[in-house]
Amino acid sequence: MPFLGPDKQDAASIAMTLILPQDSAGVTRAASLLADGELVAFPTETVYGLGGDARSDIAVARIYEAKGRPNFNPLIVHLPDLAAVEQIATLGPKARMLAQAFWPGPLTLVLPLRDGSGISPLVTAGLPTVAIRIPAHPLAQALLRALGGPVAAPSANLSGRISPTRVSHVMDGLQNRIAAILDGGPCAVGLESTIVLADPDPTLLRPGGVPMEALEACLGHPLTLGGDGVKPTSPGQLASHYAPNAALRLNATSAAPNEILVGFGPVKGPLTLSETGDLIEAAARLFQALREADALAGPSGRIAFAPIPETGLGRAINDRLRRAAAPKDIP
Ligand code: TXA
Ligand code: MG
Repeated sequence: MPFLGPDKQDAASIAMTLILPQDSAGVTRAASLLADGELVAFPTETVYGLGGDARSDIAVARIYEAKGRPNFNPLIVHLPDLAAVEQIATLGPKARMLAQAFWPGPLTLVLPLRDGSGISPLVTAGLPTVAIRIPAHPLAQALLRALGGPVAAPSANLSGRISPTRVSHVMDGLQNRIAAILDGGPCAVGLESTIVLADPDPTLLRPGGVPMEALEACLGHPLTLGGDGVKPTSPGQLASHYAPNAALRLNATSAAPNEILVGFGPVKGPLTLSETGDLIEAAARLFQALREADALAGPSGRIAFAPIPETGLGRAINDRLRRAAAPKDIP
């Protein structure tokens, strides 16, 4: 931990994580903690973010430390509106079309960083681009406006583990590693944002909360398919993201004796993503269902997932499930 002095490290590791209420006092407290360089997890419509002031090297270093991230992957910067985005990055014509159609919302755009943006180079991992999102969640909006500055936030889970869609999930991984959590209840979308590199050739870097079909309808042409973000440090590091403890089998239509089956539509199990086969409901339930299945499976059990159609949000759900099923590369 090269960024913090020994006193700071001790103070950070013994502090109790506060749970702040979803009212103006909670938002004000959360903003003042962020302004002091502390970490605050906050709700967005996708998943809970682990927020730190994106202008502060110390705050950003603390994010990597709290998550236990082995490498400095670039982080998403959260801003309240387009005027704030334009101070930090430049929008080409395609980026502007997508921003107008999908912001605020579950879309992240990778944009050229402006000189003098004030963003810590630890946020961008030294890249000339920055990933930016305007979240729609009213508490995220209130927090960003109260701080009046950019908030860097990866998902608020330990590196390589399942993304959090409830306060209890954040507590499971980060209790007493961060100053506070702003409580916004369960996240409505339940999957991380879709990441697009917009100009000149719109490229999908990560499927997510905005379906690819909606982006293509807006642009009027197909997206190029990219990898999962540009990883300047160690490519492939995120292959086993979202990992439960139990081994996971995909496209299952029935359960083997030691398996917990998570159903979808006609495939029934003790758990289901959506009995009616609704992909929006399935996305919102995915990470909670992974946690419940993991708890039910226990140390020697396995999890099986019903097939999910590869359309709309199904593409992002399948992406997360494939990563959850991949061999673990967590150190
Ligand atoms: O919904 C979300 O996107 C959530 C909420 C909290 O906003 N955040 C989130 O952050 O999922 P994280 O750190 O788990 O994912 C960030 C992704 C990584 O895959 C990273 O490689 C990519 O964004 N990324 C960040 N900056 C980038 C850049 N300049 N170029 C390409 N990819 C970038
Ligand atoms: Mg994440």
